[in-house]
Amino acid sequence: MPRFATRLDEAAHRGGRIVLACDYDGADIVSSAVYDIRRLSRYLCGVKLNLHLLLPLSADDISQISATARQCGLLCIADIKLNDIGNTNRSAMDELWKMGFDAVIANPIMGASALRDVVLWAHDGGHGVITLCHMSAPQAAGMYEMITDPHRVPLYRTFLDVASSCGVDGIVVGATYPEIIRTCKRSYPEMRILSPGVGIQGGSAQEAVLAGADYIIVGRTIIKSDDPVGTAEQLGV
Ligand code: XMP
Repeated sequence: MPRFATRLDEAAHRGGRIVLACDYDGADIVSSAVYDIRRLSRYLCGVKLNLHLLLPLSADDISQISATARQCGLLCIADIKLNDIGNTNRSAMDELWKMGFDAVIANPIMGASALRDVVLWAHDGGHGVITLCHMSAPQAAGMYEMITDPHRVPLYRTFLDVASSCGVDGIVVGATYPEIIRTCKRSYPEMRILSPGVGIQGGSAQEAVLAGADYIIVGRTIIKSDDPVGTAEQLGV
């Protein structure tokens, strides 16, 4: 099976650069997700399910969403910001793959050697790993830009270098920080960048893409819109 990053590129070529964050609330999470994935698929390359959705849903529910994504030619990403010891990481990933996920978002704070194992296990089965580099929220800067070593390197820069050295499939950099996107892309042009924080969080999809983002993660701006299809089209990516 081709690598996850290649499959995501191909899906974006068929559809668009948007990864739909399925952050539905209420009782109709599965039916809402299935309905939106089908009607929005021509603008999407993937769908993302966050931890707060995995908690209330059953494995069958989640498999139904991932199967719908697959039928539409889209990839399914588990946003659990994985960050634990090897044994636990591996068990969590095995459960995700069983439910049809193609990739997991992980937190590189687990350390390079643990992350390298996560990448090896994922790639072994054709799955992918995406790591946090710089989160989208305004308060994220205080932590992700913290100077962490004697060489005056900000934390996100360490996360970027670790991501590259561990061979991850992509990194998350908030669309709200286009300068950081630019720096990351300049440093590692081959590294796929996924950018959340568009619309409601204040980031611009077009600006993020111009800065070097390969994919845009969008939730509420689309799913809470009166016209989700029109909104996805207007994002213009
Ligand atoms: P909205 O509704 O703001 O949703 O478009 C964005 C989605 O992305 C998640 N999110 C992030 N995930 N790193 C991540 O891995 C981030 O920096 C980040 N910022 C937002 C958020 O949980 C939601 O699902």
